[in-house]
Amino acid sequence: MLKRLFIAVAFLYFTVSVYGQKPQTQAGKCLTCHKEVSRGLYNQWYNSAHGRHNVVCLDCHGAAKGDKDAFTHYEAQIATLVTPKDCSRCHPKESQEVENSYHATAGLILDSNDAYMAHVAAGQPVAITGCESCHGALVKIDDKSPNKLSKESWPNSGIGRVNPDGSKGACNACHTRHSFAVSQARQPEACSKCHLGPDHPQKEIYEESKHGNTYYTHIDQMNLKADRWVAGQDYYEAPTCATCHMSAALKQPLTHDVGQRISWTLRPAVSVYKEDWQKKRDRMQDVCTTCHGSAFVDGHYYQFDATVRLYNKKFAEPAGAIMKIVADKKLLKNTASYSNDIEWTYWELWHHEGRRGRHGASMMGPDYTWWHGMYEVAQHFYFKFLPQAREFNDPDVNKYIDNLLANDPMHQWLNRPTEELKKDIKSGKMQKIFKDMYSETR
Ligand code: HEC
Ligand code: HEC
Ligand code: HEC
Ligand code: HEC
Ligand code: HEC
Ligand code: HEC
Ligand code: HEC
Ligand code: HEC
Repeated sequence: MLKRLFIAVAFLYFTVSVYGQKPQTQAGKCLTCHKEVSRGLYNQWYNSAHGRHNVVCLDCHGAAKGDKDAFTHYEAQIATLVTPKDCSRCHPKESQEVENSYHATAGLILDSNDAYMAHVAAGQPVAITGCESCHGALVKIDDKSPNKLSKESWPNSGIGRVNPDGSKGACNACHTRHSFAVSQARQPEACSKCHLGPDHPQKEIYEESKHGNTYYTHIDQMNLKADRWVAGQDYYEAPTCATCHMSAALKQPLTHDVGQRISWTLRPAVSVYKEDWQKKRDRMQDVCTTCHGSAFVDGHYYQFDATVRLYNKKFAEPAGAIMKIVADKKLLKNTASYSNDIEWTYWELWHHEGRRGRHGASMMGPDYTWWHGMYEVAQHFYFKFLPQAREFNDPDVNKYIDNLLANDPMHQWLNRPTEELKKDIKSGKMQKIFKDMYSETR
């Protein structure tokens, strides 16, 4: 109620300040003309919540004369770009949360290894049509262009787009224009333009999980178009990405800060707990327990944590230590980063299969945990990465590997009889080797 009142007041204030003495004429002209020149777009708007509440073209596209991207269009000052700052006039809470979220930082990837690789190993055009389409471009102004937006950086709706007004992101990364329908944003497809593929296959994991299966089976009962969408109350058959990461549950409100419910970092070479991770985990578990018992949820996290630690301790930390010796001793033949085989092998070990395994375990996708994940981690660690490291013929590298394989019980299997190893699995001896991976964290 209060929120609606606030929106109404903000809307009135905006109307008066932009249109001055003649509120309807300018705004009415946009509609009359665009109803003809861009009918599809007009109809999307007309049938949307904005259309119904009389939020018109100028409310979003209106600009002040000094704005870097403002231009004169049939006597009105407008901008094509509509940034989170523009939406914040009426949706301040959502805009603030987006600004605080990890999503808002996604455009700052220029210094990353991924960006270096794209620019050098491939080439600049693909950084724009690839990376920046998901992460967001730095929107450049071109005063010669009719809408002032440089073709090099727009169209773009990347999640962390850096806008000329200083704001970050693009609300239409998730809310497709001009319908801006919540029903669309609540579906997994809203996220899966970006959250898919070899290095972050959340879409594929969701689809193979029981959650995805149940969602697609019961999509008609998901109540996607409802005004209020509280898990357990307005729908209950299955969670979507939004349910777990954003939407309201019985005891917590909707958040546009997607990091609020995440305890681990599953992206880097070695995973660590986030700041305040227990609070974040509690929020996620609060969502889970609308549909599951807490013992079941604790059990999931117990198994998930153990998989992350296994990946860290058995593979990621040793591989990182070997790469450090290689770097410290300058053993690489070619000078530029990524001009040597082993750099690509190491990169894929953590950035591709290593992430897939961790992501699979976090979101109940067993095929990603094992076949696309830890299976490939193990295969590539033993039969690609270690042999490539051995090729340096360096005493320190060899010493490290020999010690690892001979003395770390997790790696002491390569030269033992299979029958003996099978006996160790059956007797429980093998499980003991991995007992340090498990602990109670709640
Ligand atoms: C007399 C007709 C007319 C009026 C009035 C009009 N427009 Fe347009 N508008 C056009 C045409 C034609 C285009 C170009 C369409 C194209 O390039 O296909 C356009 C383009 C645009 C674009 C895209 C600009 C770009 O190049 O990126 C926006 C945004 C826009 N109009 C918004 C508005 C708004 C807001 C109003 C009201 C202040 C308005 N229009 C009034 C006819 C009109
Ligand atoms: C709720 C806010 C909102 C309203 C209302 C709105 N727009 Fe937009 N419009 C956007 C957003 C967001 C974009 C994407 C621009 C960007 O990249 O930031 C956009 C983009 C556009 C574009 C350029 C993109 C394209 O697909 O060609 C045109 C043209 C346009 N709007 C016209 C209109 C017209 C005409 C109206 C009124 C019928 C209107 N808009 C109403 C938010 C709005
Ligand atoms: C299909 C969309 C998409 C493309 C294309 C893409 N990324 Fe990403 N990127 C993502 C997503 C989604 C994440 C977050 C994954 C996660 O949290 O599991 C991410 C994560 C990252 C990270 C890690 C951020 C961190 O703080 O840990 C970097 C760096 C990065 N991407 C850079 C790039 C670069 C550079 C390119 C182009 C070479 C690129 N990405 C291409 C979607 C994409
Ligand atoms: C990461 C995807 C994502 C981005 C980016 C995003 N939203 Fe949302 N938004 C959602 C989802 C999902 C919902 C529906 C949540 C629900 O109903 O449970 C939603 C709902 C909303 C609602 C309806 C809220 C309500 O209480 O009914 C508004 C308003 C909104 N978003 C505005 C914005 C604005 C403004 C921005 C940009 C500053 C933005 N969103 C960016 C995903 C996103
Ligand atoms: C002038 C005020 C105003 C501006 C600017 C504005 N909105 Fe809205 N928005 C509203 C009103 C009013 C509603 C309908 C009230 C409600 O549902 O709470 C609404 C509803 C929404 C909804 C919910 C739609 C649904 O299906 O229920 C979303 C999502 C949304 N806006 C996103 C945006 C985004 C993204 C922008 C910027 C691109 C934006 N709005 C700009 C006033 C505005
Ligand atoms: C346009 C691309 C895009 C869309 C759409 C998108 N994301 Fe993201 N998401 C990213 C990128 C890129 C990152 C990594 C951010 C960075 O590198 O700073 C990310 C990161 C995340 C994170 C990690 C946050 C953290 O703090 O570690 C979560 C969770 C997430 N997204 C959930 C979602 C959900 C849920 C949706 C859909 C409702 C969604 N995203 C839609 C691109 C996207
Ligand atoms: C059943 C709830 C649930 C659903 C559904 C779900 N997730 Fe997750 N997600 C999780 C949990 C749990 C984690 C791990 C949280 C932690 O680290 O504590 C996670 C982690 C993530 C991360 C962080 C990965 C990283 O690299 O740090 C991203 C991004 C993400 N999910 C996106 C998505 C997207 C996109 C979808 C839909 C395609 C989705 N999630 C569906 C529960 C869910
Ligand atoms: C909206 C309800 C809902 C929410 C919220 C929800 N789940 Fe589920 N979950 C289900 C349903 C339904 C199933 C399928 C049950 C079955 O297999 O009989 C399921 C299955 C599971 C399974 C079993 C997977 C398998 O393959 O057997 C696990 C583990 C799980 N959920 C964990 C979680 C966790 C952890 C969370 C929170 C991060 C969560 N769920 C949130 C409804 C939900």
